[in-house]
Formats: sequence, structure tokens, C-alpha cells
Amino acid sequence: MKILVIGGGGREHALVWKIAQSPLVTKLYCAPGNPGTAALAENVPIAVDQLDQLLEFAQANTIDLTVVGPEQPLSLGIVDLFEANGLKIFGPSKDAAYIEGSKAFSKDLMQKYNVPTAAYGVFTDLVEAEAFIKRTGAPIVVKADGLAAGKGVIIAQTGDEALEAARDMLSGNAFGAAGSRVVIEEFLTGEEASFLVITDGRQIIPLASAQDHKAVFDGDQGPNTGGMGAYSPAPVVTADIHEKAMRQVLRPAIDGMAAEGRPYRGVLYAGLMVKDGQVKTLEFNARFGDPECQPLLMRMKSDIVPVLLAVANGDLTELELEWHDKAAVCVVMAAEGYPGDYRKGDAIEGLEKAAELDDLYVFHAGTAARDSLCVTNGGRVLGVTALGDTVKDAIEAAYRGVARITWPGVQYRSDIGRKALNRL
Ligand code: AMP
Ligand code: GLY
Repeated sequence: MKILVIGGGGREHALVWKIAQSPLVTKLYCAPGNPGTAALAENVPIAVDQLDQLLEFAQANTIDLTVVGPEQPLSLGIVDLFEANGLKIFGPSKDAAYIEGSKAFSKDLMQKYNVPTAAYGVFTDLVEAEAFIKRTGAPIVVKADGLAAGKGVIIAQTGDEALEAARDMLSGNAFGAAGSRVVIEEFLTGEEASFLVITDGRQIIPLASAQDHKAVFDGDQGPNTGGMGAYSPAPVVTADIHEKAMRQVLRPAIDGMAAEGRPYRGVLYAGLMVKDGQVKTLEFNARFGDPECQPLLMRMKSDIVPVLLAVANGDLTELELEWHDKAAVCVVMAAEGYPGDYRKGDAIEGLEKAAELDDLYVFHAGTAARDSLCVTNGGRVLGVTALGDTVKDAIEAAYRGVARITWPGVQYRSDIGRKALNRL
């Protein structure tokens, strides 16, 4: 089979790494890919939002299956376009990806189908938003309705801060059109978990549990990022929480999407808040999490290709996924300044030395090739991911890899996985 992976971040490097191990694959492409994927697949210089060019490439190269990594091409309708042209593709349609594309839609869906979530309001008018903020009190959470690369969520500690965030978004100054509508919601406390499933719209196969680290600094301090590290399994997801997440969140959301005429196929990612044995849903994403995908795929024992293909064919019946008993931890190494403006073009040292370590893989995210060098080219640069018999072993193994790699201004969290240790 010829497979095309769309995207060029750490998640897509992990997908390429996993797919490349399948005996079913004869040729693997990645568009646009990165220097990491170039070692395992043929990179194709087409950007993820160039849908017509991607279609032309898939047709000209008789691609048997396309796998979409990021949300943007999903929201632009890449799945609809490929399917209309008779091509198999893994991911939700444009209408189904709206579960991530609009937070207002997603919250209304949760309310309608009784999926537990924070109390909220949706506003386009600042005066009404202000009244809701006053009524609810702080801390309170203000979210841009549309896609904002994981940065459109402000946790406001005071009413004034919330009002300012809502004003910035509604005026179009922050996040442009994505902020012309805002969701304002109750602040939830507890421990977060990333709960991902693969579905054909009826059958649901849960992936192993995972936890992300959204804040940029140790101890969950500082602004939110796309994710500074992740691990799997996540002990916060006990058997009871798993059962509740499936019954109260994923099943009604997937059935609800079908009832709304937006049947959901692909990976559905529920961001959960767990507290006192209860789950609440923070958000849905229409794709694999990044960096959650990296530790999850390192732990996946089964060949992923039959599952991706079955979803593209609309029938997951009788498929299962097996997992390694080991734990996996991914530490993101980021460029100075991230998640704000960040440095680019610094030479990365030590990649070969890290590659000598067993049970460790360095996934590339924001890197570029320059002459014979590998240089930084994004906010999140690398995802150093390791397996271990326990979470503790995997943490130590990942940081042994991190210690071998450096560049000017490199930053990373030193506490990835600590919450899991606290629970053991
Ligand atoms: P979202 O993109 O909606 O998941 O928000 C990004 C991050 O903001 C989440 O992973 C949480 O860390 C935080 N967050 C979002 N909504 C809430 C909430 N209602 N209460 C507390 N934290 C939240
Ligand atoms: N790591 C969080 C996300 O992919 O949205």
C-alpha cells in the first residue's frame, strides 16, 4: 500500500514512524514532513492547507490511504474532497471536524446530549459577556470560538482580566475571525487527562490513557502551549474513570454527532478534567493530540494501518488494539521564547548521541535541514520519547535523551510525568 501522511510536526513524525513499521506499506510519503520524517518517508513539499495540490499528488501517485494529522486541513474539508474523488482518507469530514473548529458548537453539543462539562455562555456581544462574567465571578475561562492553535484560551483570575480578554477577542484584535464569538465558562479544578478514541462513527476503540502538560513552565506555571510533554498510561484514568469517560462522554458525543447529521469518523480526542471520581469535558479535538500521539504510538503494539484503513472504509468491526505494558514519556524541547515569539535557526547538537540510547526515539517537530545541519525552525522543536518498565523508568530514560541534546536558548520542563509518580 502507498500511504500519504499530511502534516509536519511531532505528531506526524510519530505517525510516519509507526506506519513505516507496517508490513502492509510499500511506499510512504509525508507532506510537508520535516527532517525527521525524511529519514522514514519521502517528504513532499506541499503545505497542509493546499488541498487541491494534495489531491493532485494523491491521484498522480495512486495513494491507497491518506492520514491527516493536523486540524486545519480537516476543517478546510480535505476528507470531503478526497472522498468525493474516490480516495480513501483517515479523518473526520468538515462537518464532523466542527466539533473542534467551533467551541460554541462543541459546548452546545455537550449540553444537548448530556455530556458533563463546565457551565458556560456563548457571546458575540461584550455587554452580555460582561453581565455573565459578573454573575459567575472569577476565576473564569474565556475561549475564542474558532481555531487558535491551542492559544485561544484565557484563564482569567479577575473579572477585569476576563472582560479584557473577551473585549480583545470580540474586537478581532486577538485571533481575528476565530475570536468574533467567545465561549465563557466556569473554571474547573482537578487533574486533566487526554482520552483518545478511534471510531468509525459507531464502534469505538479507546486508545491507551495519556496526560499532556499544557503550561510552559514546571509546576503548570506560565502561559498555555500546544503541550510541553506527555506520558502514557495516565494513572488518573482508573478503570472507573475510563468507564465513565466512555459512557458519559465519548458514546453520547459520537452518537450525538451522528444524530446531528455529522457522523464522526477518525480520532476523537476528549480533554477531560477528573475530580473526586467524576469527569467533565474541557474540549474535543478532531485529531491525535500532539505530543500525546508520540508516547501513545510508542506503546502501541498492533499494526496501526489496518485500523486506519478500516476507519477510512467506515467499518471497524472486530478490530482491536494491543498495547505494550511499558510506560512511555515524551519531553518536548522548545525554542527560547515559545509560546511567544521564538528564536529560529539555531544548530541542534547531540541528535546522534541521543539516537544511541535504547528504547528512545527523538521525534522532530519544528526542525529544518540547513546544509549538513539540523536547525531549530519552530516553537516546539523535538519530542524526546522513551519507553520504560514503569513511568519512573520512562521519565529517567527520556531525560537521559534530553541531556544529550542542546542548542542556544533551549527550554523544556523538568517535571514531565511527575503527577503520575504522585499517584503511584
Ligand atoms: P481547551 O483548548 O478548551 O482544552 O483549553 C486549553 C486548556 O485550558 C485546557 O487543557 C485546560 O488546561 C484549560 N482549561 C480550559 N477550560 C477550562 C476550564 N473550564 N477550567 C479550567 N481550565 C480550563
Ligand atoms: N496536546 C494538546 C493538543 O494536541 O491539543
